[in-house]
Amino acid sequence: MSGPNDNYDPKQVAALAPEVIDGYVESALAAIAAANSTAELKQVRLDHAGDRSPLALANREIGALPPAARKEAGARVGAARGRVNHSLAARTEELAAAELEASLRAERVDMTLPVALAPRGALHPITTLIDEMCDVFVSMGWEVAEGPELEAEWYNFDALNLAPDHPARGEQDTLWVDPPSAGKLMRTQTSPVQIRSLLERGVPLYVVSPGKVFRADEYDATHLPVFHQLEGLVVDKGISMADLRGTLDHFARAMFGDVRTRMRPHYFPFTEPSAEVDVQCFVCHGESVGNPDAPCRTCRSEGWIEWGGCGVVNPRVLRAAGVDPDVYSGFAFGMGVDRTVMFRTGAPDLRDFVEGDVRFSHSLNGGAR
Ligand code: PHE
Repeated sequence: MSGPNDNYDPKQVAALAPEVIDGYVESALAAIAAANSTAELKQVRLDHAGDRSPLALANREIGALPPAARKEAGARVGAARGRVNHSLAARTEELAAAELEASLRAERVDMTLPVALAPRGALHPITTLIDEMCDVFVSMGWEVAEGPELEAEWYNFDALNLAPDHPARGEQDTLWVDPPSAGKLMRTQTSPVQIRSLLERGVPLYVVSPGKVFRADEYDATHLPVFHQLEGLVVDKGISMADLRGTLDHFARAMFGDVRTRMRPHYFPFTEPSAEVDVQCFVCHGESVGNPDAPCRTCRSEGWIEWGGCGVVNPRVLRAAGVDPDVYSGFAFGMGVDRTVMFRTGAPDLRDFVEGDVRFSHSLNGGAR
């Protein structure tokens, strides 16, 4: 045990000798210089400036020296620790700066590099036109109704006044779904949505229903087995053929500009009277008819373009949907959407509509009308 400080331990004196302290400092400075990262330097700091480092231990021993020796030893150890700490701080700063520099370099973004443009898709021209068509009706307060593509025979035929033995059933090239006894088919028209909306929404009713329809048809420039229709249906009190005409004229003008429509008598089981509706050619306005010097490609110089079917809703249809035909009456119409895209844009081949080349969509969306 150390007694009063006048007789001190020669071993402690040796440990605090200038050359020993200088040795500690030198090995600390060498280790600091050799550290190549702030992580390595952390370990160096523990070894050479930490609580258990030789210099810290030396510092603790000062108290055991005789007063005469303390001052000098204290100054020496203090200066040594100062040098080490100073060197540590300088090296820390140096390494941190180098590390920051390296990470900035590694994460650098070259703003001048050309951008790799990801190819962008496009809405299909049919989608675009359906949206545009629906907008015409929604802005008059109508609703948009949708129905299933896999449909029950009853909605597609029976309720629309096409009994199982009705000759018109055979004309629709129906795609039946197995087993035949299930009475399921791919809807051949959007008209079943008339029945669904009447049953679900009741009267008065103002709806348009766009969608896909299916028929076992050819696949060529003018036919597709899957195409699109837009159906319109109004059922209210006092609705007449005049309302149908006005609606179709408004719709035609919204689609094609300044044109008229005309009706040709026709037959549909679900409307009576029925008509086919033509729209005046919006390119030649009929000028090309009988004028071989100015032929029109859009209407093939016929002056009119066949657009769809329409008529006054057959009372039997209203009855099938639980509506009293003595109180309510209505009109309905249905157009081919694909055809409308074709003659609005001059797209010559319906097969382009289904082949999925985005350039087709881009070209029509850019150049519509
Ligand atoms: N559903 C008929 C068709 O596909 C078109 C139509 C709709 C006719 C509504 C009259 C009324 O040909």
